Amino acid sequence: MLDLKGKKALVTGSTRGIGKAIAHKLAKAGADVVVTGTTEEKAKEVAESLKSYGVNAIGVKMDIRDDKSIEDAFERINKEFGEIDILVNNAGITRDTLFIRMSDKDWEDVINVNLNGTFRVTKRVVRSMIKKRWGRIINMSSVIGFAGNQGQTNYSASKSALLGFTKSLAKELGPRNITVNAVAPGFIETDMTAVLPEEVRERYKSNIALGRFGSPEEVADVVLFLSSDMASYITGEIIHVNGGML
Ligand SMILES: NC(=O)c1ccc[n+]([C@@H]2O[C@H](COP(=O)([O-])OP(=O)(O)OC[C@H]3O[C@@H](n4cnc5c(N)ncnc54)[C@H](O)[C@@H]3O)[C@@H](O)[C@H]2O)c1
Repeated sequence: MLDLKGKKALVTGSTRGIGKAIAHKLAKAGADVVVTGTTEEKAKEVAESLKSYGVNAIGVKMDIRDDKSIEDAFERINKEFGEIDILVNNAGITRDTLFIRMSDKDWEDVINVNLNGTFRVTKRVVRSMIKKRWGRIINMSSVIGFAGNQGQTNYSASKSALLGFTKSLAKELGPRNITVNAVAPGFIETDMTAVLPEEVRERYKSNIALGRFGSPEEVADVVLFLSSDMASYITGEIIHVNGGML
């Protein structure tokens, strides 16, 4: 059943785009949700809107580049909300440029958020999942982690690293009834992709079997499924949501 009543979820980077759509789907299915982002104001705003589904929701500032910010966020979450059953590692950034021009900072910023941030946040939730012998961890990868792309060596490296992370952690946590999966979206209409020039968008579109870009809700539906008991025998998998792009 896609019923998440009684479950507590945390979605990183859920102030907009795919993360926000995931927060809405999970709350609509009955889960209590922690909305997190780099500013508290936006996180609170989204959390308030989730309460219309009759669930508990809080908005917390959590910058996943920064251990202290994560520690402060979890202090609040543990006090005001409780232990997390469903973790969606969604927050991610791009710093696109050709490799020949890529600075150390472009490389480090992307690896630090997309990969190291996922490591840091996951560390905070696994212990209580192990104790409860139930948990769902869903990592947001990308089609670019499979196919590669010009100007995205940093992003592609971070997103394919998440696949190895997902598969290994699934093996470690499987015996504790915790599933770990990844979702690999293709081209999704969000602020992240809105910055791409029209000619690049058209080029991408011509490589998509369904002939259109995806919506954040279409990615969120898959995350909802993986969070639920309907996906209880799926772990270590990567689910592609790309309209037929590979
Ligand atoms: N949009 C796409 O086409 C697409 C395709 C494949 C994968 N993805 C992945 O999906 C995820 C969401 O993408 P989106 O398109 O919604 O992006 P977005 O830029 O619209 O949203 C990203 C979210 O991450 C948050 N974030 C950024 N840096 C952070 C940090 N240091 N700490 C905490 N939160 C931070 C932002 O505040 C925002 O809420 C990302 O991991 C992205 O790589 C997106």
